[in-house]
Amino acid sequence: MADKALITGGAGFIGNHIARLLLKKGWDVVCYDDLSVGKKEYVPDGAELVVGDIRDIDKLSRSMHGAKHVYHLAARVSIRKAVDTFIDDAEVNTLGTLMVLKAAHNTSVERFLYASSMAVYGNVVYSPQDEAHPISPTSPYGVAKYASERYIISMSEQWGVEPVICRFFNTYGPRQTPSPYVGVITIFCRKLFAGETPMIFGDGGQLRDFIHVEDIARGAVMALEKAPAKSVINLGTGIGTSVNEVARILSDKINPKIRAEHTDPVPGEPGDSIANASLASELIGWKAEKNLQDAIIDAIEWNKGEMGL
Ligand SMILES: NC(=O)c1ccc[n+]([C@@H]2O[C@H](COP(=O)([O-])OP(=O)(O)OC[C@H]3O[C@@H](n4cnc5c(N)ncnc54)[C@H](O)[C@@H]3O)[C@@H](O)[C@H]2O)c1
Repeated sequence: MADKALITGGAGFIGNHIARLLLKKGWDVVCYDDLSVGKKEYVPDGAELVVGDIRDIDKLSRSMHGAKHVYHLAARVSIRKAVDTFIDDAEVNTLGTLMVLKAAHNTSVERFLYASSMAVYGNVVYSPQDEAHPISPTSPYGVAKYASERYIISMSEQWGVEPVICRFFNTYGPRQTPSPYVGVITIFCRKLFAGETPMIFGDGGQLRDFIHVEDIARGAVMALEKAPAKSVINLGTGIGTSVNEVARILSDKINPKIRAEHTDPVPGEPGDSIANASLASELIGWKAEKNLQDAIIDAIEWNKGEMGL
């Protein structure tokens, strides 16, 4: 019988790519998602979808029964929106995480991957940022992510679930649910295909580490399979690209007549964030394989298709 993995947020952007990879590797996969953002049609054939909230611990525990690995991705992911909705977000992102961990403990899950974020670093002291970079989140989202990391590591010691924390950097690629708040590449693609002007917050010089979702999914699966318990690992490319540069690449490829414009910076957004991902290479033999110039086509083509063009 195949081993079972449960992915919270498995109908979401990164979760569905992890589900696809696990199915290819022969796992039985359950995607547990409330579909607040994720979509039924993103869940790959062969995976089971359970529609539920992570805070419904009974339903979650039933769905987790027999699972060996849990990937916990369900979260409210908007850094910008979280400034207005932080109490509700903390209920999902922090308390919800504790419930997933408790369900994992109740059901004898062996290993537990937590999808954390570069947002935990906040203010940049040096760059690229390794895992020892000072933690100073500038958004409620980053605070909730870091609190969850610490809860998971401390509770797991008592509960015997082996946790691995991955800090994902800016992820792009197919099947990111469009939202005005998250995913600059998806937002700009949609704007350009609609003939509208993309807006850059601030001067656009801020550097981001854009990483393809398939590299993230592969890194997360390798981390849960191979990393020592309690590892905290960055998953990023190590390459910084400015938001201006991304806007230029997308305009050139989609609609060269439209160029992004600038608007006021938003509070809570971290400064330059580039990963030092050498620990991932050392611990699990992982390295990002896709480069932005070529792999951005996947995001462009997917958004084009979704817009019926
Ligand atoms: N996309 C990125 O660039 C990025 C970067 C760093 C970290 N992350 C983390 O990776 C994880 C996945 O992010 P994503 O980009 O795939 O976002 P996403 O919004 O596409 O996926 C999150 C999923 O969680 C589900 N969800 C939300 N609240 C829920 C609840 N209460 N109960 C059950 N399901 C719920 C949503 O419906 C969605 O399908 C998140 O934890 C996020 O914080 C993402």
